[in-house]
Amino acid sequence: MNSKRRTRNGGFPFVLVNMAMSADGKIATANRAVSSFGSTSDHENLLKLRATADAVMCGARTADLNDINLGPGGKRFQRLRVKRGLAKYNLRVIVSGRGSINPAAEVFKHDFSPIIILTTTPAAGRVGKSLLHRVSEVIGCGRSEIDFAAFLQWLRRERKVKRLLCEGGGELNDALFRAGLVDELHLTVCPEIFGGRTAPTIADGSGFARLAAAAQFELKSSRRVGDEMFLVFVRRRNER
Ligand SMILES: NC(=O)c1ccc[n+]([C@@H]2O[C@H](COP(=O)([O-])OP(=O)(O)OC[C@H]3O[C@@H](n4cnc5c(N)ncnc54)[C@H](OP(=O)(O)O)[C@@H]3O)[C@@H](O)[C@H]2O)c1
Repeated sequence: MNSKRRTRNGGFPFVLVNMAMSADGKIATANRAVSSFGSTSDHENLLKLRATADAVMCGARTADLNDINLGPGGKRFQRLRVKRGLAKYNLRVIVSGRGSINPAAEVFKHDFSPIIILTTTPAAGRVGKSLLHRVSEVIGCGRSEIDFAAFLQWLRRERKVKRLLCEGGGELNDALFRAGLVDELHLTVCPEIFGGRTAPTIADGSGFARLAAAAQFELKSSRRVGDEMFLVFVRRRNER
């Protein structure tokens, strides 16, 4: 697969990242025991966003540690999708560079839509064997690390994905931010403090080393519901 860095002039899906975080910026507790802490409004918001996306993506740890299916939710949301011209069920993508994802994870028990595993080219054969019959496709993209830009172009071209919703975790988000691929960030700020220096945040991984290099966003909207804040940031135009 072509691994050229993208130019932002077409050929890519619009990428949204949606995360709930504690007031101190964590997306789970340090021991990973708590990662679902948003209100019903937050959950509704997640399903509404999924209902705008052709595909939903997450990292291997997020799929392993949570009983999630990455699907559209109930019939109400399925109808909404169809009304908007989307498929009734969204495509699902799980990122797993080393193929460490547990084949018994909940997400594999739901076969309403294809699951694509994204890994590197050298790992694709091995990952494919371990997940045989559980996934539709294993895509290897990039040699030493995953080339997300090339993958997104492939998704757009081959699977007609115009909007991709990424639901974390922190390691995956960081790679997308560093590659300059995130167009919109949806954050629910929840009224808890988790603390813990090893608790995951919305962007972990290797991060940016300089302020000048940091991913830049501007606030598009803010909405308070109960004790939570729903924030939407858009990528600064001059970054494109
Ligand atoms: N509050 C929220 O909204 C929210 C949302 C999502 C997740 N969470 C929580 O966040 C935690 C998981 O976050 P996390 O950062 O630890 O894990 P993650 O990003 O979900 O998954 C990490 C794994 O995904 C693969 N991966 C991710 N980025 C990669 C890259 N650039 N290249 C290659 N492989 C990549 C790797 O799999 P391999 O090991 O196979 O290489 C890596 O070990 C969990 O506790 C989860 O419940 C919270």
